[in-house]
Amino acid sequence: MAATTETFESTSPADGETIGVFPKQGVEDVDRAVARAKEAYARWRLVPAPKRGEILYRFARVLEEEKDALTELMTHEMGKVRAEAGGDVQEAIDITYYMAGEGRRLFGHTTPSELPDKWNMSVRTPVGVVGAITPWNFPIAIPSWKLIPALVCGNTVVLKPATDTPALAERFVGLLHEAGIPEDVVQIVHGGGSTVGDRMARHPDIRVITLTGSRETGVKVLEAGAETLKHVHLELGGKNAIIVMDDADLDLAVDGIVWSAFGTSGQRCTAASRVIAHERAYDALQKKLVERAEAMRLGPGWEADTDVGPVINKSALEKIDSYAKIGQDEGAKLLTGGEIATDGDLDKGFFYRPTVFADVDAQMRIAQEEIFGPVTAIIKVRDLDEAINVSNGIKYGLSSSIFTRDVNAAFRAMRDLEAGITYVNAGTIGAEVHLPFGGTKDTGNGHREAGQAALDVFTEWKSIYVDYSGKLQRAQIDD
Ligand code: UN1
Repeated sequence: MAATTETFESTSPADGETIGVFPKQGVEDVDRAVARAKEAYARWRLVPAPKRGEILYRFARVLEEEKDALTELMTHEMGKVRAEAGGDVQEAIDITYYMAGEGRRLFGHTTPSELPDKWNMSVRTPVGVVGAITPWNFPIAIPSWKLIPALVCGNTVVLKPATDTPALAERFVGLLHEAGIPEDVVQIVHGGGSTVGDRMARHPDIRVITLTGSRETGVKVLEAGAETLKHVHLELGGKNAIIVMDDADLDLAVDGIVWSAFGTSGQRCTAASRVIAHERAYDALQKKLVERAEAMRLGPGWEADTDVGPVINKSALEKIDSYAKIGQDEGAKLLTGGEIATDGDLDKGFFYRPTVFADVDAQMRIAQEEIFGPVTAIIKVRDLDEAINVSNGIKYGLSSSIFTRDVNAAFRAMRDLEAGITYVNAGTIGAEVHLPFGGTKDTGNGHREAGQAALDVFTEWKSIYVDYSGKLQRAQIDD
């Protein structure tokens, strides 16, 4: 029950259909959820980790059974195309199986003591109540990256999902409960960032805040969490580039660019919004890319022949369109796209044509700022050094990529690209759940999610010394 009777609607970005009506919750709802989560933590942390893992294995199986239904709902509520929506759910299944296994690992260390008859070890302990603030672009996968490791480690969670995808979040949490996670161990609070999100970031009983969102929101959460010295895990923006060298397999590179720039309508933090082309590959690349972009069919995600779905809402559509104007004003050459698509039924939703700019200068705003739409900018370079400099010449550091057949160039790129993720001969998207995910520089604050690295966000180390000598032994002093 919400403390308020206000509601908000979730509607489909493809055709405006109403998906559901949800309570617009506020500060009191956060406080109530956190109080319950704190009480629940006292019990949940003592449930043996392998038992917590067993419930999560069950959840993975429930998710498998529900995969088709969640996929379908995602094509309607969030808008991505069916294959990608299925991938989003699959990513949640994958991380759940992976993390459920941590219930029987959660390894610590034992190590010798410098003193006789003394035992030293370190163990991972849960942190407490976790506040998770999740975006709409991976409405099942990203909540799972945060909630599943938090739960297996013994934390309880209050989730604030994006207000664009509340139905999917409700379904996700409902299935966790069905699988056996107690209701007070995972709770959901719907509402805006400035009310619900802000209260979570300030609440004294929330010990960890994990956010995937914009750089701007990240700074606000970090500031709001400072007063209570929260652990703050931030996964923010990207301005990822694909480098195409002159020796690259050009058709393969084009496949990688199309998938990374226009997949999810460019609404991934890992999307390739820049292409850095060697001058000898530049002309051929432009031509192939334009052909492919223009052949893409826009439509609702649930239609089988759709290549590019809608963007999430009207303000996103307007923001993307404003960047198309900015690019032209800056002197970049618009090769294709650059407009809102309204033909046929497309005017019922928020569709933007796949857009390619050429003659882009690395310092232009379209080459520096995150657009979060189906827009990519081609920048011409002379050699590998310049390519790497341009790729690094942004404030973000999430994903990066190089297409080349030269092993030396590939290894230099692997070493020198300033990013949390580097792909060789693949685009910038498609991270797997058992490797750390996250970025350098303004993409985050040094943490990673997924993989073993996620455990560092959701546990604290405790070092334990057991002295069985029966006498006082002073470290650093006694022999
Ligand atoms: C995101 O865009 O926030 O690597 C996550 C990928 C996906 C996850 C993207 N597995 O593109």
